Amino acid sequence: MAGRVITVGNHKGGVSKTSLVANIAADSVRRGCRTLVVDMDAQANLSELLMGHDFQPETTTSDLLASPDIEAGDAAEAIVSTQWHGIDLIPAESDLENREAENGAEPGVARRLATSLEGLRDRYDLVLIDTPPRISLELTSALLASDGVLIVAEPDADARKGARRVMGAVEAAAAGFDHKVAVYGVLLTKMDQRLVSHATERAQFLQAFGDLMWRDSIRDRAAWRTAKSERVPVFGLRRRDTGSHEAEGDLVRVVDELFVRAGVQPSIPTTVEGA
Ligand SMILES: Nc1ncnc2c1ncn2[C@@H]1O[C@H](COP(=O)(O)OP(=O)(O)OP(=O)(O)O)[C@@H](O)[C@H]1O
Ligand SMILES: [Mg+2]
Repeated sequence: MAGRVITVGNHKGGVSKTSLVANIAADSVRRGCRTLVVDMDAQANLSELLMGHDFQPETTTSDLLASPDIEAGDAAEAIVSTQWHGIDLIPAESDLENREAENGAEPGVARRLATSLEGLRDRYDLVLIDTPPRISLELTSALLASDGVLIVAEPDADARKGARRVMGAVEAAAAGFDHKVAVYGVLLTKMDQRLVSHATERAQFLQAFGDLMWRDSIRDRAAWRTAKSERVPVFGLRRRDTGSHEAEGDLVRVVDELFVRAGVQPSIPTTVEGA
């Protein structure tokens, strides 16, 4: 079965897009998925998380968008295996932020990422694309390469607005490019159950997005920040505490749900119990 390509997005910054892409990928590997992640953010946070600060990529997503004569499967040349077990990466570099100004007017530029990834679906069960916190050529390119989008949002009004803007980009992809992107829902992150404002905000999200809202959410836990600084998945921390087990529990529930919503099917048999 061909793999699924999923964009993770929100117009707002800092809502956990990159953390989720890396951690969903890591958990998917445990489940037996051949997994590729694509960094479409010029901040290159995902590339740095998976490869370390000194990583100097050769070919990046910026190169893919800059190539007018890109052909199906060309993204394969940009793939590197990462320091995280089993995860392959197409890295980003800061120059990606210039593609929109320098190449944005060229015909077909927004489809270049999709073209370059064609054929790679047979090699992967899951492809996750990390995106920048803005409506951009990068986000449009990601959507045109994707089967669906997972919108992630902190429980606040700006992230709610940001989620709406991603819905707008999905509609624009359908209207302007005749490419239908499924919306796999809106997932709340960094939830603090003790805060009345978060409960109120969840109600606002429900009103705005109805059935698209996920019942599950990711709780605010320091383990996510520690894992980022140690450059490991939340289940790979050296010192495990209640918070890190809760973070892992949230992650596993989210991946369970995402696999159902997106129809992701691991192709490698696993023997690890509880993986
Ligand atoms: N569930 C969580 N609980 C606590 N902190 C979290 C959680 N998820 C992510 N964080 C922290 O929030 C910060 C922002 O996360 P991340 O970089 O994943 O967001 P982002 O949406 O990718 O940001 P940007 O829009 O800048 O790309 C990081 O320091 C991360 O460790
Ligand atoms: Mg990010």
